[in-house]
Amino acid sequence: MKVLVTGAAGFIGSALVLRLLERGDVVVGIDNHNNYYDPALKEARLAQHAAHPHYTHLRMDLADRQAMEACFATHKPQRVVNLAAQAGVRYSIENPLAYIDSNIVGFAHVLEGCRHNGIDHLVYASSSSVYGANTSMPYSVHHNIDHPLSLYAASKKSNELMAHTYSHLYHLPTTGLRFFTVYGPWGRPDMAMFQFTKAILAGEPVMVFNHGKHRRDFTYIDDIIEGIIRVLDKPAAPNPDWSGDQPDPSTSKAPWRIYNIGNNRPVELMDYIAALEKSLGKKAEIKMLPLQLGDVLDTYADVSDLVEQFQYKPTTIVEQGIEHFVAWYREYYEM
Ligand SMILES: NC(=O)c1ccc[n+]([C@@H]2O[C@H](COP(=O)([O-])OP(=O)(O)OC[C@H]3O[C@@H](n4cnc5c(N)ncnc54)[C@H](O)[C@@H]3O)[C@@H](O)[C@H]2O)c1
Repeated sequence: MKVLVTGAAGFIGSALVLRLLERGDVVVGIDNHNNYYDPALKEARLAQHAAHPHYTHLRMDLADRQAMEACFATHKPQRVVNLAAQAGVRYSIENPLAYIDSNIVGFAHVLEGCRHNGIDHLVYASSSSVYGANTSMPYSVHHNIDHPLSLYAASKKSNELMAHTYSHLYHLPTTGLRFFTVYGPWGRPDMAMFQFTKAILAGEPVMVFNHGKHRRDFTYIDDIIEGIIRVLDKPAAPNPDWSGDQPDPSTSKAPWRIYNIGNNRPVELMDYIAALEKSLGKKAEIKMLPLQLGDVLDTYADVSDLVEQFQYKPTTIVEQGIEHFVAWYREYYEM
């Protein structure tokens, strides 16, 4: 199978490319290598698969319409996984337009490419942040998600809506995956686990927002990749029972599906810092701060649809995942 993966030098994208190549797929990767965080880390991730004979890397921007048209026409992928995006809730307060360029304009180009080139399945990254002001836990794909708290969340919800129109109008099978706080080796430097590790090792204070009263459903990278692969292999199908009289928000008469991928086991922020301290063999100096603008209080994924339809749910416990992350971090940064 020939798969186009966008965001191929990113945290999740590079791990996915490796898995697809390992199982014998031909992969075309796109990434613009932007400097939202250290581009050297993106180069290092890419170096793991760049030389593989079944891999082609394109340094280009999703927002470049001509380049995207040429990419689809030249490489003729069968399936597409869209992971390229401007990620991060907090940065969307600082630089909202970056989210419009990559996540809205860029995603529209991905949809157009899929539509005009007979793609048989588009899988794309959504996020737990779409649940926004919802407080009913666990978060279910059958809940309404009309109250996003950041432009990042709104851009991800927009992707789900845009995908629905293409699934409806052009019968393009699309599946949106709402990822819940992904962590692990080769992770993102803007995310909490990375920043906490860096601060603890440097003997600097760890910034704990909302006075530590957060719960997060942390999901280990290998579990996310397994979920993406299983979903990619089964193109979205229409739900024959879907009714416009009582519209289910996660399925449709069109070939369009939405799933949560999370650990289904939320962890208190302070417990997670304790696990990190244990793994690093060093105590954290905690600095308590108020809730950050745009942040949600808790996340907790209901993954019953994923279990029912793919016989799969993430299983890695956070203590184990932290061990793997810390081992990678110490080796990569020689600390
Ligand atoms: N990591 C998480 O916890 C998490 C949680 C929820 C959703 N997501 C989503 O999953 C996807 C992958 O996330 P990640 O953690 O691997 O992030 P990442 O930032 O490491 O990867 C995204 C990659 O896309 C590239 N990119 C960004 N804009 C681009 C553009 N316009 N054109 C081409 N390339 C571009 C970046 O250079 C980067 O390498 C994103 O869509 C993100 O929003 C991630």
